[in-house]
Amino acid sequence: MPQLSSKITDALNLQINRELSAAYSYLAMSAWADTQNLAGAASWLRQQWQEELGHATKLIDYMAERDGKIVLSAIPQPTATFSSLLNLFESVLAQEKAVTEAIYGIYDLAVEEKDYAAQGLLQWYVNEQVEEENSASEIISLLKIGGGEGSGLLMVDRQLASRSGGQ
Ligand code: FEO
Repeated sequence: MPQLSSKITDALNLQINRELSAAYSYLAMSAWADTQNLAGAASWLRQQWQEELGHATKLIDYMAERDGKIVLSAIPQPTATFSSLLNLFESVLAQEKAVTEAIYGIYDLAVEEKDYAAQGLLQWYVNEQVEEENSASEIISLLKIGGGEGSGLLMVDRQLASRSGGQ
């Protein structure tokens, strides 16, 4: 397996930072949900935090396999306050859409550089992003339909509590 090109190395290092930034952001979101007594949302967001750590680790492991130089850069302070759970999940969707765009950019680069192996890895992220955007959109719809407050909000929170597993 050829060593990673320097362009792809830089792009993957940047993506590791994006995944870790997303993780950090979910952790802040989870803490906010806790302060609002939304235990289900807090737990859902905690799980998402772990998923994002997994996404970063998968990239790190891949780079190590291909002798790429791993560079961990600073993670920005995440947004910690939200006007509502709907507002929070709108931020989740925006964040995931930005990650999707970034993945597409790296995929394009891997195509340009004829790095077929990296394309294989990135395809996994492309699929994962479909799921992530979809679940954020579904929660936004639930909050819009069921009402973002009172008993409607509690119902959505209970539904979020039932999330299990993940990758
Ligand atoms: Fe790893 Fe939610 O992007």
